[in-house]
Amino acid sequence: MNILSPSILAADFKNLGQQIADVDAAGAPYLHVDVMDGTFVPSISFGMPVIKSIRSASDMVFDVHLMIVDPIRYIEEFVKSGADIITFHLEATDEPQAVIDKIHSFGKKAGISIKPGTPVEALEPYLDKVDMILVMTVEPGFGGQPFIESSYDKIKATRKMLNDRGLDTDVQVDGGITKDNIKKVIAAGANVIVAGSSVFRGDARENAKELIKLMEA
Ligand code: DX5
Ligand code: ZN
Repeated sequence: MNILSPSILAADFKNLGQQIADVDAAGAPYLHVDVMDGTFVPSISFGMPVIKSIRSASDMVFDVHLMIVDPIRYIEEFVKSGADIITFHLEATDEPQAVIDKIHSFGKKAGISIKPGTPVEALEPYLDKVDMILVMTVEPGFGGQPFIESSYDKIKATRKMLNDRGLDTDVQVDGGITKDNIKKVIAAGANVIVAGSSVFRGDARENAKELIKLMEA
């Protein structure tokens, strides 16, 4: 199934509740929540209190993308804040399997992510251990960057590695997704599509609706 996951990093934070209601009404099943620590990535976004606050206002699946070093330290707190899916970066930990196990111990879905410079082969030991693989299609850290064209080959290679093992694990893409390339990333093998600027710049509800339509066609 193809799933749109609007990224609130690009939302208008003074109207966050309304922006979330808009993408929910448009039919987006997931809400992508980018957590940045200023160390794994240069920027700092938001953390537990924000997630807790919006949790009380939304039934969407909270797809939490941790761009933080040593993510194991915070898994429990993100679960308690309301995360449904927790994705961490392979590059951010020496113990990916322990992070996966910790997320699963709370009954939550675990995702593992690679940056544009990390080869897909690095995912190999975890393919049958995670619920989702996030192939970053921009350098993590900021919204509004252009899609890196070489990502198509990485998406295809990731889907092939999964298919070869008989796995139908979700493949997520994040960064630079627009109305112009969404069909192409899906054709390459992605099925969970993060979109920040292309949803929240302008009319979020209309943009999300349009993207969902393109995903179905
Ligand atoms: C970047 C974040 C993305 C970001 C995507 O580090 O992980 O989720 O919000 O933004 P757009 O869709 O604008 O590239
Ligand atoms: Zn993200």
